[in-house]
Amino acid sequence: MIKEGKTMQELDVVCEQIECAQHPEDIFGVESNKVLVKNIFRQLSKVVHPDRNNGDARANNAFVKLTEYYEGAIKKLTNGTYGDTLSEEQTNVSDSDSFTIQTRKNTYTITKTLAEGDLGVVYGGQAIGDEFNGPIAVKVVDDNADNDLMQNEIKILQLFKNNPANQLKHLPVLLDRFKTSDGQLGTIMEYIDGYDLYSIREGLRWKYGIDQKHVVWMMNRTLSAIGYAHSQGCVHGNIDPSHIMIRPRDHNAWIIDWCYSALNPAQTGDGFKVLNEEFSAPEVAQKKPPLPASDLYSLGKTMIFALGGDVKTNVMPASVDIALQRFLKFFVLESPRQRAQDAWEMHAMLNDLVVELWGPKKFLEFQI
Ligand SMILES: Nc1ncnc2c1ncn2[C@@H]1O[C@H](COP(=O)(O)OP(=O)(O)OP(=O)(O)O)[C@@H](O)[C@H]1O
Ligand SMILES: [Mg+2]
Repeated sequence: MIKEGKTMQELDVVCEQIECAQHPEDIFGVESNKVLVKNIFRQLSKVVHPDRNNGDARANNAFVKLTEYYEGAIKKLTNGTYGDTLSEEQTNVSDSDSFTIQTRKNTYTITKTLAEGDLGVVYGGQAIGDEFNGPIAVKVVDDNADNDLMQNEIKILQLFKNNPANQLKHLPVLLDRFKTSDGQLGTIMEYIDGYDLYSIREGLRWKYGIDQKHVVWMMNRTLSAIGYAHSQGCVHGNIDPSHIMIRPRDHNAWIIDWCYSALNPAQTGDGFKVLNEEFSAPEVAQKKPPLPASDLYSLGKTMIFALGGDVKTNVMPASVDIALQRFLKFFVLESPRQRAQDAWEMHAMLNDLVVELWGPKKFLEFQI
């Protein structure tokens, strides 16, 4: 048992850091040397040392892993490979959309292009291996200069994986990562058999906006995902219609693309990484620190778009109930202090509003 509150908190933070690490560099920094590595090792091992934690299992495991990473770091510093975290996992990504990726964990065959995003290409394929068998989505950056954004997404998805909760069903699942022979970073995620909001609106059925009774369940799921991310200290930073995916058959929804997110911005100074002209809150252009309310602004704009509204003026189709319009306008107030703040509180308010408007909830088939 660990007694002191302060020590417990410190232990949690250090364990989390060690559990999230995949390479010695994740603990000792990409640019390091033997003295620095030794110092960091000494400090961290003081926190997780078994003698100090009365046999606490999590601390013991962290200490074992830390020692392994320490030995690995010293070895890499000695043979000159320190800082190179992915050289063992290189693959050739050709221009065609049919190729194979081999990592230490698994084999992945790519068979098609799913989307061409801002950062790179998202391919579709299949994982074949003991660890995971099933459909996958593979995202590869076009330009090595964007590797840090990809690395950021890996860090966040790993954090989510390490903190299981019901809300993970609304978030992408990271399976693996790799580096191409040209040095571009790529991630392998479970395939989401859904459609992003742009493609839903592009279809004929919802050309003028998605019915409000469907938009509310989409918003309910996404608020739940955001509430969880915020509880982990993470602000998404780029919620827009391309980053919300919907699976019609069971009304599931996902928030994807965590490349631009900021982790514990108030403590770390981590800032916004992109300005999304139509969906970013005003504080992004003002280069202010990311806030949970910044995501709620972007979600409000995205839902106005989903309903067929005008994201510039916030005018929504007259068919949208005035109470729902009022609720959404609370999300898109220019001043972050006046706008909606807490995703889980908004989730509860939305549930109440839906029951008030249309009575007890029932499943309505959604077709696209
Ligand atoms: N796990 C997934 N399963 C199925 N499709 C996906 C998945 N991840 C992404 N996609 C598709 O690819 C599109 C782009 O994905 P994403 O936004 O993650 O990458 P990107 O746009 O290249 O990156 P960024 O926006 O950071 O520049 C999504 O809108 C979606 O259509
Ligand atoms: Mg994207």
